[in-house]
Amino acid sequence: MRRFAMTDYGEAPAVFKEISAEPREVTAGHIRVAIKAFGINPYDVALRSGKMKEVRTLKFPYVPGNDGAGIVTETSADVDSVKIGDRVVIHTVGGTYGEEVVMPAAKAAKIPEKMSWAEAAGMVTTGLTAYNLLNHLLDLQPTDTVMVQGASGGVGASLLQLLHEKGIRVLASASKKNEEKVRKLGVSEFTAYDETDPAEKFENQADVVIDATKGSIQGETGIRIMKEGGRYIALNELPDLALRQKKEGFYESYVPRKEYQDKEAFSGLLHAYEKGLFTIPIAEELPATLDHVIWAHQQLEGHPPAGKIVLLNK
Ligand SMILES: NC(=O)c1ccc[n+]([C@@H]2O[C@H](COP(=O)([O-])OP(=O)(O)OC[C@H]3O[C@@H](n4cnc5c(N)ncnc54)[C@H](OP(=O)(O)O)[C@@H]3O)[C@@H](O)[C@H]2O)c1
Repeated sequence: MRRFAMTDYGEAPAVFKEISAEPREVTAGHIRVAIKAFGINPYDVALRSGKMKEVRTLKFPYVPGNDGAGIVTETSADVDSVKIGDRVVIHTVGGTYGEEVVMPAAKAAKIPEKMSWAEAAGMVTTGLTAYNLLNHLLDLQPTDTVMVQGASGGVGASLLQLLHEKGIRVLASASKKNEEKVRKLGVSEFTAYDETDPAEKFENQADVVIDATKGSIQGETGIRIMKEGGRYIALNELPDLALRQKKEGFYESYVPRKEYQDKEAFSGLLHAYEKGLFTIPIAEELPATLDHVIWAHQQLEGHPPAGKIVLLNK
C-alpha cells in the first residue's frame, strides 16, 4: 500500500518520500478505509517544518493527514455505524496521505451521494473547527454581530456559512481578490484588508471576533473591532498581552477538545450541505503523487488562492 511519509522535519522536497506500507489489522471499534481523496492543511505544514515538535514529537517515517474521504473496505464485528462499501468522510490523527487507513469508526461519517470525494476531504478540519467553535465554544445570541478575519480561508468560509445558517450578522475581511467569493457566502459587510484596515470600518462593532487568518496575524485589528467586554477567539496564538490589556474582553485561543464528537459535527455539516447551505470551496484537485504532496505543501507555505487543495487516488 502506497503512502506519503515525512522522513524528518524540514523542507518538503527533502523530507517527503513515497513508501510502501503493510496493511494494519482492524481491531475493535475500527474500520479500514480505501482513501479516495485527502486534504492538505496548514497544520500539516507546521508539523512537517518542526515548528510544533515541542508539543507534538513525531516518530519517522510519519504519514501526515487528518482529512480524507474514501470507501469502507473492512469493519470490526462491533461496528454498526458504517458498513463495507459506504462512502465516508474521515478525520484521523495522521495517516490520510496514502491509499488506506485503519481508524476508529467513530471518526467516520457516511456522505451523501452527490458529495464529491474532493468536497468530503476538503470539509474535515476546516468544517469541524468552525462547527465546534460555533456550537460548543461560543454561546451566540441572535442579536450578536460576529467579525470573521480570514473569511476567504477554509475555516473562515465554513464559519461564514454556518453563521449565515444561524441568521447571525457577520462582518468579514479577506483580500480584495477574494471579495466576491466571500460575499457569496452570506456576509453582511466586507472589508478588503489589503485596501483598508478593517478596524477603520468596523471599530467596536463586533460582540465576537474570530481571527481565522493564517497564523492569526490580525490581532491588533481584531481587538479594535471587538466591543468592550466582547469575546475574542484566535485559531492560533493570542495577540500579545500588551495588546489585550488595551481592551477588556474574553480572549481565548481555540483548541479542539476531546468531548467534541466528530459524529455530531459531521452530521451538522452534512445536513447543511444537503440543504444547499454549506459548500466547500476547492482550489485544486490533483492526482495523489509525491510531486503533488510537495507542491501542495509549498503552496501552503506561501499565500495560495482561496479554497482547499485536495489530492485524489485513482
Ligand atoms: N486551532 C485549531 O484547532 C485550528 C484548526 C484549523 C485551522 N487552524 C489555523 O487557522 C488558520 C486558518 O486555517 P485555514 O485552513 O482556514 O487556512 P487558509 O485556508 O490558508 O486561510 C488563510 C486565511 O488567512 C488570510 N490571510 C493570509 N495572509 C494574510 C495576511 N497577510 N493578512 C490577513 N489575512 C491573511 C487569507 O486571506 P486571503 O487569501 O484572502 O488574503 C485566508 O482567509 C491557520 O493558521 C490554521 O493553522 C487552527
